[in-house]
Amino acid sequence: MTRHFLKDDDITPAEQAEILELAIALKKDPYSEKVFAGPKTVALIFDKTSTRTRVSFSVGVSDLGGVPLVMDSGTSQLGAKESVADTARVLERQVAQIVWRTYAQSGLEEMAQHSRVPVINSLSDSWHPCQLLADLMTIREHFGHTDGVKIAYIGDAANNMGNSYLIACAMAGMHVSIGAPARYQPDVEVVRRAQEIAKQFGSVIEVHERPEDAVRHAHVVATDTWVSMGMEKEKQKRIKMFADYTVTNRLLELADPSVIFLHCLPAYRGYEVAADVIDGPRSFIWEEAENRLHAQKALMVWLDRQQKLGK
Ligand code: CP
Ligand code: NVA
Repeated sequence: MTRHFLKDDDITPAEQAEILELAIALKKDPYSEKVFAGPKTVALIFDKTSTRTRVSFSVGVSDLGGVPLVMDSGTSQLGAKESVADTARVLERQVAQIVWRTYAQSGLEEMAQHSRVPVINSLSDSWHPCQLLADLMTIREHFGHTDGVKIAYIGDAANNMGNSYLIACAMAGMHVSIGAPARYQPDVEVVRRAQEIAKQFGSVIEVHERPEDAVRHAHVVATDTWVSMGMEKEKQKRIKMFADYTVTNRLLELADPSVIFLHCLPAYRGYEVAADVIDGPRSFIWEEAENRLHAQKALMVWLDRQQKLGK
């Protein structure tokens, strides 16, 4: 059975730890794995814009000895002209893995259902699991471990990043605290799943409306844009709704003194984060952005190994 990575808990907590260890090893020795030697090709499909994901997957596939094939939905038949299932049937015969940034999670599920090669979600409306591997790697590098570390995620918690922080951080044994307006809190089902995972580790999942309550004792404070891709029409409404959710140094004063700041980027200074926070000493955003490369390389290597083991 082919393993795919469509959402954070498509792997077990032990497998997540294994991928993070491999990512740290690959950061030290970037050209040590050549799983795509041949060279094999990896399809990178983008239905939404991207800088980090496009670059890190392209560089990552090259580092692993392969060739990245970047496809835009606007210049391929996928979408309006050809079904996801037929696209999967064409790709699986020619590429080693399929990486797809898209809108609905159901598209990724359909692609995976019809593909004998691994499908990786490089962001959907519901999840951003590759980003979380990079964030967890950054936390692990900084604190030496993830278990027992408390993360507070502030802002739009009803989006892909809110969902992925809840599940991936719970899997890493972290305490997760959300600070979001009532209308933008995570789906109860996602919170329930995170709590179920957290039980194994004795960690705590909290959802607050006041950001001040969410950041208390946090070792990591993270945020994301208030206007995710696809939400552009709601921009003005959202700027008003989230006005009290800017991550400022004043807010960070309420967190643990060791607190670090993370943001998946791109960032909008003066909106979800103050410039002196994101550009200040507590910010680890550039390490986080670089770690996309190492974490995704580890993921691709790991999926290739599973494929060879016939798992
Ligand atoms: N964080 C992230 O996924 O960035 P891009 O949209 O630039 O790929
Ligand atoms: N929530 C954001 C993440 C961007 C990397 C979006 O979906 O646009």
